[in-house]
Amino acid sequence: MAEITQHDIVIIGGGGAGLRAAIAVAETYPDLDVGMVSKVYPMRSHTVSAEGGAAGVIKPGDSLEDHIRDTISGSDWLADQDAVEAFVREAPRELTQLEHWGCPWSREPDGSVAVRPFGGMGIQRTWFAADKTGFHMLHTLFQTSLKYARITRYDEWFASRLLVEDGRCQGVVALELRTGEVRGILGKAVILCTGGFGRIFPFTTNAAIKTGDGLGLAYRAGVPLKDMEFVQYHPTGLPGTGILITEAARGEGGILVNKHGDRYLRHYDLGEPLDLGDPRHPLFRTMELGPRDRLSQAFVHEQELGNVFEAPDGAYVHLDIRHLGEKTIDQKIPFVRELAKNYVGIDPVHQPIPVRPVVHYMMGGIDTDLEAATSLPGLFAAGECACVSINGANRLGSNSLPELLVFGARAGRGAAEWAREHPESSRAALEQQADVEEARIRDFRGGDGGTERIASIRADLQAAMESGCGIYRTEATLRAAAESIAELRERFRSMRLDDHSLAFNTELTGALELDLMIEIAEALVHSALQREESRGSHQRLDFPTRDDERFLKHSLAYRTEGVPRIEHRDVVITRWPPAERVYGRAHEAGAAERGT
Ligand code: FUM
Repeated sequence: MAEITQHDIVIIGGGGAGLRAAIAVAETYPDLDVGMVSKVYPMRSHTVSAEGGAAGVIKPGDSLEDHIRDTISGSDWLADQDAVEAFVREAPRELTQLEHWGCPWSREPDGSVAVRPFGGMGIQRTWFAADKTGFHMLHTLFQTSLKYARITRYDEWFASRLLVEDGRCQGVVALELRTGEVRGILGKAVILCTGGFGRIFPFTTNAAIKTGDGLGLAYRAGVPLKDMEFVQYHPTGLPGTGILITEAARGEGGILVNKHGDRYLRHYDLGEPLDLGDPRHPLFRTMELGPRDRLSQAFVHEQELGNVFEAPDGAYVHLDIRHLGEKTIDQKIPFVRELAKNYVGIDPVHQPIPVRPVVHYMMGGIDTDLEAATSLPGLFAAGECACVSINGANRLGSNSLPELLVFGARAGRGAAEWAREHPESSRAALEQQADVEEARIRDFRGGDGGTERIASIRADLQAAMESGCGIYRTEATLRAAAESIAELRERFRSMRLDDHSLAFNTELTGALELDLMIEIAEALVHSALQREESRGSHQRLDFPTRDDERFLKHSLAYRTEGVPRIEHRDVVITRWPPAERVYGRAHEAGAAERGT
């Protein structure tokens, strides 16, 4: 029988959102106790790898209105505007709070917080800590969480199922990786902060841990997954590994050139080069600082024109930062130099860096409201696993770090209120569910009757996703992906594990993850099939234009015993009516009219 532990609130995921949520609980109601379950030690969560920075209005000349407008137009009008307003308003407060907790933000010579330009933002507003922003933010949150004795950590425990009783989420079942023990961890409220799911694609900046577990758990418990079709390709990953070369490299003035030495983005309606020497220039949203969807799409066109370098690790273009000089590179983006030297063997002070688009971020996720609550009472979600939605069809770089702070804190406060108002219900029923899950995991571990290996199913899943739902899609590619996934589901039933041991059985956790990845991928493909338009990162060659009439709507994928059921819900439009998304010249003209 599975052992049972009780907390007031259980948080799944120990990265930025999970830690921020735990601190919010501890600060709101110090009498509540929190169990924090994470499949990795918190400092190994993927937040650690965020590089470029976190957006928040702080400087003279900037305004909340401008950040809101940039975010909404960047989202191709699919973001909920009430959510964006709340986010933009609270982001500076959260970033300042982090400063007070010890985050070493980079400074201007006068000692004030420094900001840098970032893609799709009309003005410099991205706070940074050199180019290891996520590392410093995670450290700050982690060390702050250590102050609170009522936060109990379950490091290296894998949550495999939500416990739902009386129509409420009341805990999880988790597997301790070190011992193989399965335990029910009960809580009056549960917060999912498990990050994204870039690992359903083969080429990604995402760590191996980003398999979308939280989405899978919520989906199985009946919560819809929202806007799953929107997959963000970051334009500058290293060929081969997919390691991120931060947008900060372009923010500091790096340029993209094709194999002919042409600064090709000038052909893609992204404006003219700007004089980045003027640090207060209000019109940064041009060329290399255009939004990620547009830049990644431009790469595909260059590839079709034969203008890119071809190599065994895939096609690439050059990111040139040589003109910045060694001093600036070492001061502002030292990690870029370190990564380029270590992973492609070039020193960007002297040579351009080979880069190509790489899956980086998922705009879609668990459907939540503004308070991070899901449709399942007692269940909350925040960070990349959630979709509030502030990112719509395309997230702007540097909005995700403040997002995890703002909505992590909201989730913590909301869950704390909920836990105080709702007593635990029938413990016997929860124990019984935990026992059923323990038996399922035992069966997985013991399974040796089949012939299928998880590594090959996973590789086939990733290949199907890349060919079916990459930067450009059509009905035919999406249908092919849907068919492949249906076959993979069948093959998964005959999977075989060679490792039957209890301690650190990574083959077993790989199987538990893959089981969920298949379902998430299916939700993505079917959401994409039903969206017969092109918007932001979802580009349908068979429906090449945006169609607000039919699709100014979120998609919601519900799990069924067959293929997912897709429903739609209107986007919340408050003060910013849908408009054409313009960058470069047209944007400059608009800004000039506004007098900015
Ligand atoms: O390029 C980057 O540093 C990525 C930032 C982000 O995704 O927000």
